[in-house]
Amino acid sequence: MLWSALVFAAVAQAQITAGLNHLRFGCSQITIERLDPLVNPGMFPTPHMHQVVGGNAFNASMPGTDISNIASCTTCGPADDLSNYWTANLYFRARNGSYKRVPQVPNRFLFNDRFTTQTSGGVTVYYISPGKGKVTAFKPGFRMLVGDPMNRAKKYKSQSCFRCYSGPNFGGDDLAPCSDSRLDFEGFPPGPCLGGIRSNILYPTCWDGKNLDTPNHKDHVAYPTSGPSNFLSTGNCPASHPVKIPQLMLEIVWDTTQFNNKADWPEDGSQPFYLSTGDNTGYGQHGDYVFGWKGDALQKAMDANGCFSATCGNLRSQDITAAKKCTIRKTVNEDADGWLTKLPGIQME
Ligand SMILES: *[C@@H]1O[C@H](CO)[C@@H](O)[C@H](O)[C@H]1NC(C)=O
Ligand SMILES: *[C@@H]1O[C@H](CO)[C@@H](O)[C@H](O)[C@H]1NC(C)=O
Repeated sequence: MLWSALVFAAVAQAQITAGLNHLRFGCSQITIERLDPLVNPGMFPTPHMHQVVGGNAFNASMPGTDISNIASCTTCGPADDLSNYWTANLYFRARNGSYKRVPQVPNRFLFNDRFTTQTSGGVTVYYISPGKGKVTAFKPGFRMLVGDPMNRAKKYKSQSCFRCYSGPNFGGDDLAPCSDSRLDFEGFPPGPCLGGIRSNILYPTCWDGKNLDTPNHKDHVAYPTSGPSNFLSTGNCPASHPVKIPQLMLEIVWDTTQFNNKADWPEDGSQPFYLSTGDNTGYGQHGDYVFGWKGDALQKAMDANGCFSATCGNLRSQDITAAKKCTIRKTVNEDADGWLTKLPGIQME
């Protein structure tokens, strides 16, 4: 752990010297619920469960206007980030066919950022930019989706990956997600991970410069011509999507330790972990994003001079107590945490 942290620190230092801005902050869960204002606006319950973090404007539908004017608080570290981020969540299927939600845990400590180690479950959010003037922050009303919940085959290059932590304290982590062929898998790791599983989702980094959203929530954004990369997609943007936007990445840590007894795993060797979509390959992992930063706070953070922390430039941060006071009323009331006979909303054959 210590050694890894030192390596991480050294690499981070090199990036700071190179002017890279690496904004990283935790966000607590605002809800775990069958809602999806991007893909199924107005619907409740939606076809599958999501775990959601960010501002309290989240609901079955969200207007395509400036969300930062509607939300009054956020579960995220920066007080000005009223965005919402959501993904599928994870379940364990026992031999008797019952499912139990796998708890999410806060991320590890880095660079004086205690907030991120104190969230309630949730997600660690990264916005990475190569420095001043190099990226254009998202505009009010911007939304996007990455990944395909129906996908069940290896398909994408490092757009999403899972790290199998070998032991406690994140198994002694190293820097880039989706980069270590011993520990990173594009689908779910094949065996028990003694320190849990981390999921990384990397959004596209090029924008068409015109559309805040498109019908499939994807066509207005693209990866660089060189494809997604595992940490910062620095390649050139295609002519169709010429505007470089920050590299948004989500990181989720699932504490699988109570499910690591091989005697509870399927006898036929199949995968016992399921995304809330009914996917036990992991290839259908996806992430949704509704931008909701106040004013030019994100642009300013991305224009800072080389930072590697929860605050870039003069970003206002809030304390964990305030963040945990930010809640919403549930719209769909159903048991998400007991042993369940089926995944909420999912018909398995
Ligand atoms: C969320 O949406 C539902 C369904 O439209 C509505 O009944 C509820 O009042 C909304 N909740 C909040 C907190 O606005
Ligand atoms: C199914 O198995 C789990 C894990 O062993 C157990 O906790 C749960 O009570 C069982 N459910 C039923 C309905 O037997």
